[in-house]
Amino acid sequence: MIKTPVCDKLNIKHPIILGGMASATSTTMVASVSDAGGLGILGVTGLGTAKIREEIASIKRITDKPFGINFLLFKIDDNTFFDIIEEKVPVVSLAWASPDQDLRIYFNKAHEAGSLVIYMVGDVSESIRAAEAGADIIVAQGTEGGGHVRSMSTFTLVPMVVDAVKPCSVLAAGGIADGRGLAAALALGAEGVLLGTRFLATEEAPIHEKYKEAIVKSNGNDTVLTHIPDLISGTTWPAGSARTLQNDFIKYWSEREDLIDKDAKEINEASLTARKEGNTDKTSLLIGQNAGLIDSIMPVNDVIVEMVEQAENIITKCLPLFPT
Ligand SMILES: Cc1cc2nc3c(=O)[nH]c(=O)nc-3n(C[C@H](O)[C@H](O)[C@H](O)COP(=O)(O)O)c2cc1C
Repeated sequence: MIKTPVCDKLNIKHPIILGGMASATSTTMVASVSDAGGLGILGVTGLGTAKIREEIASIKRITDKPFGINFLLFKIDDNTFFDIIEEKVPVVSLAWASPDQDLRIYFNKAHEAGSLVIYMVGDVSESIRAAEAGADIIVAQGTEGGGHVRSMSTFTLVPMVVDAVKPCSVLAAGGIADGRGLAAALALGAEGVLLGTRFLATEEAPIHEKYKEAIVKSNGNDTVLTHIPDLISGTTWPAGSARTLQNDFIKYWSEREDLIDKDAKEINEASLTARKEGNTDKTSLLIGQNAGLIDSIMPVNDVIVEMVEQAENIITKCLPLFPT
């Protein structure tokens, strides 16, 4: 068993957390991660108060283990957040604040409700901002990750954030898909890991099977950082860009960026439909470089069990062989 301070803080068995990946997460997936001893986080960005309440109730019906909800701060509707915080979920996970947003307002509200606050960052200055605002746990997310990321790699970012925010707990994210990644993250000073892409390729993930198969097929070298998904959805992120599979859709629109604006609405609707129907060459697929490490679609529980066993083996049996 790998027990770190963050396990006690979050009241979980294994230091493995599901990234709150908006509609790519579901109540079943979240409960499965929590039941397996990790922490499931449901992405609730864009959902209204009533729907989020329903989802929280649904998770509580499936599991009595801790779980969290995730909001993208730059898109947050304050009224929804302030209403939902009264649900007193164990963990409130936040990411991607605009430069002018006051993190304390959200962190304090969550703390008053008895929730722990996790905040995700892609550089050191953002980690200091979050630590000063009172985050309980900071996720250092490297550029290898799927979805929106910044430019620092996980291997360099994690120890820099650990040093910058000491004694705040840090989780590593971006590029982690197995026990080797977990063991490495602990060696870098993180107290655990937060995973996106690995959990997308699970039986419980609420995405089309073809999306999961695209992750399994990817060699990790076929992902790209791009603004295409944001140009199409008309979203301006505070920083960074999106890591996606470089499929026909991304290649096509990368050569025609200037044409997107006038037809963005139609292109977006067609892309959302294609993703829903598993037409994977006609939509953007957010995945990380670690897709190259993923060769099967597994139950969530098996992902966690295998990851912990492999990391334990590395830490207790392999690494002690090296010093002579
Ligand atoms: C499809 C997808 C959607 C995501 N949406 C969110 C989100 O809404 N909020 C968030 O904090 N992180 C989001 N992320 C980032 C993940 O939480 C996590 O940081 C990232 O996937 C870690 O890298 P990995 O994919 O290499 O494990 C998303 C990632 C993916 C792949």
